[in-house]
Amino acid sequence: MVGIYDNEMKLEFVSKSSNEAFARITVAAFASQLDPTIEELADIKTAVSEAVTNSIIHGYENSEGIVKVECKLKDNCVEIQISDSGKGIEGIELAKKPLYTTKANLERSGMGFTIMESFMDELKVESIPDMGTKVTMRKYIMNDREEKNEVEDVEKVGK
Ligand SMILES: Nc1ncnc2c1ncn2[C@@H]1O[C@H](COP(=O)(O)OP(=O)(O)OP(=O)(O)O)[C@@H](O)[C@H]1O
Ligand SMILES: [Mg+2]
Repeated sequence: MVGIYDNEMKLEFVSKSSNEAFARITVAAFASQLDPTIEELADIKTAVSEAVTNSIIHGYENSEGIVKVECKLKDNCVEIQISDSGKGIEGIELAKKPLYTTKANLERSGMGFTIMESFMDELKVESIPDMGTKVTMRKYIMNDREEKNEVEDVEKVGK
């Protein structure tokens, strides 16, 4: 895994809903290296949670499979790839539309992709029916929290 990135990690786990929290917390812990704000970290956790839940409930439905999560850091960017080898998506553009769901009976609202798109800076969805789905998301950590600026200002004044 040595390459152009500053740091990388991979996770693989069985498609049980109990692993959704595991994935979200682990990615957040890894991304913390970029010193994100609480809000940035919350956005990442929400997006990971949506993608992993999709792999579990839509990708594998009632069967068990493996969900893979890869996370890469480069400068101030965190890239997260979440993939499954499940049933895949027939029409990706339609699936990404707000309120579109194939599981309305399970009280799904069809907002997962919309949430990923709005909470992250980039979203790419690749899928082949009966082969699986891969979601790639990027977020640029701006790290411009107020208290940090204040500390820096104090340091500048002190110099
Ligand atoms: N990993 C996946 N494998 C197969 N189909 C998927 C996958 N991810 C999404 N889909 C399809 O895309 C649709 C839209 O996904 P989205 O996450 O936006 O909404 P939802 O999961 O149906 O509802 P919500 O996320 O609000 O609970 C799903 O209903 C499903 O048909
Ligand atoms: Mg969803």
